[in-house]
Amino acid sequence: MCLAHEVDKQASRHRRNVHRRRRTASSPATVFSRILLAIATIVILRWAWFPRSSSSPANIAYFIQVSPETVLHLPRLLRVLHHPKNVYLVHFDIKIPASLISRAQTFLQSNSYKKNVFVLPQEAIAYAGISMLLNTINAISEALRYNWDFFINLSGTDYPLLNPDRIRSFLGRADVLGRRLNFLQAQEADKDKEWFVNKRLGRIYIDTTLHSKASQNDGTLIDLNTSSPYNFSDVTFVKSEGWVILHRSFCEYAVNSASGRRLLLSYATARAADELFFGALLSEGDEFRRTMTWDSFRFIKWGLHGTRWSRPGYLDEIDEEIREELRESGAFFARKFRNCESELKDFIDENMSGMAQRAYGVNDSSVAEFAQKAETRLHRATAVQSVTAGHFQV
Ligand SMILES: *[C@@H]1O[C@H](CO)[C@@H](O)[C@H](O)[C@H]1NC(C)=O
Ligand SMILES: *[C@@H]1O[C@H](CO)[C@@H](O)[C@H](O)[C@H]1NC(C)=O
Ligand SMILES: *[C@@H]1O[C@H](CO)[C@@H](O)[C@H](O)[C@H]1NC(C)=O
Ligand SMILES: *[C@@H]1O[C@H](CO)[C@@H](O)[C@H](O)[C@H]1NC(C)=O
Ligand SMILES: *[C@@H]1O[C@H](CO)[C@@H](O)[C@H](O)[C@H]1NC(C)=O
Repeated sequence: MCLAHEVDKQASRHRRNVHRRRRTASSPATVFSRILLAIATIVILRWAWFPRSSSSPANIAYFIQVSPETVLHLPRLLRVLHHPKNVYLVHFDIKIPASLISRAQTFLQSNSYKKNVFVLPQEAIAYAGISMLLNTINAISEALRYNWDFFINLSGTDYPLLNPDRIRSFLGRADVLGRRLNFLQAQEADKDKEWFVNKRLGRIYIDTTLHSKASQNDGTLIDLNTSSPYNFSDVTFVKSEGWVILHRSFCEYAVNSASGRRLLLSYATARAADELFFGALLSEGDEFRRTMTWDSFRFIKWGLHGTRWSRPGYLDEIDEEIREELRESGAFFARKFRNCESELKDFIDENMSGMAQRAYGVNDSSVAEFAQKAETRLHRATAVQSVTAGHFQV
């Protein structure tokens, strides 16, 4: 922003100079060439500082993890998420019956999807085990074969609140894409750092999926009930939620760097490393720490059933008040949804994203109002230059 201001100042200085000379110089040709020169200078300076203009949308790689409960959600999710210039990588959980997977694959072969929706090899995943993080890292490696700017992970129970063009243009803004920002969601906590370090790193958990054939695996995480021999007092510990929006440059670093490999191994026996890895890696070095932004634009309803640590609630099982909350949120995505077809999704398509299938069913003023909320939230998140290294962020 400072740079833009400086460019503007220089530009107006140029203009003033041009004016002054116009009064003294007599030849219109000279005046004209000076104006041309000034304009060229401005254009070149702007281009040099903002290599991509604010109007060029970001390409996005979506990683969608599909579970047995959410495989039927996929058609509707893809319909509202799909854009020909994005890339979509779909992972089907190993526990999904083969007949359902082959139906889904047939559907993905349809014309609009077959160019940019790809199915990943199936891997067994243990809930809260390192295999969850490994699966995401494998998806990033695979995605890096294609052209995109941001990586976003979703599960089958997520649903977008904005249409694909809007998300692409928001993330394509010069103050987002130009700064190569990375977005994580901090999680509120009522526990302290020591409690977390002990619970997540201080005990040894064995992810059984790493040690047996994927096809026969039930994917369990075994708590050895043994404390870890490592001393974690100096470790960078950053706790976030698992949903992320990551810039390509950081993705390359995460999957290809020695630091990334080292951190991944050091979390091999941790619990829920998917909530620790990216935050810690981002805050370890100066290069990426500056890009860390504490909002991943998700709407999640924690603690519905009393405790803060319960899993997120199903939005389509809450009463209608949730609609107002969603509209106020300015989030890009919401979760979780129990049903693949629900009135709440219809509401979102008609009044928030504008993705309703019947064109006359879209409430344009309501959609515009929500987009404004999302833009405000994006602006608020990116205006804050975050975060101090090694701090406990929950
Ligand atoms: C990515 O999304 C899934 C939702 O399927 C989530 O469980 C996981 O923790 C996410 N994050 C990472 C880093 O794998
Ligand atoms: C875990 O270990 C502690 C002692 O270190 C023991 O009291 C407790 O019963 C053990 N829990 C399980 C589930 O084995
Ligand atoms: C762990 O490391 C810290 C700092 O490096 C040190 O002060 C502390 O005594 C160590 N704890 C143990 C149990 O070795
Ligand atoms: C969209 O919102 C209007 C009120 O603003 C409501 O009457 C309508 O039912 C909503 N659409 C859906 C599909 O829920
Ligand atoms: C469209 O949305 C606006 C703003 O939320 C609302 O006031 C209006 O009643 C809606 N129109 C229709 C036809 O539902």
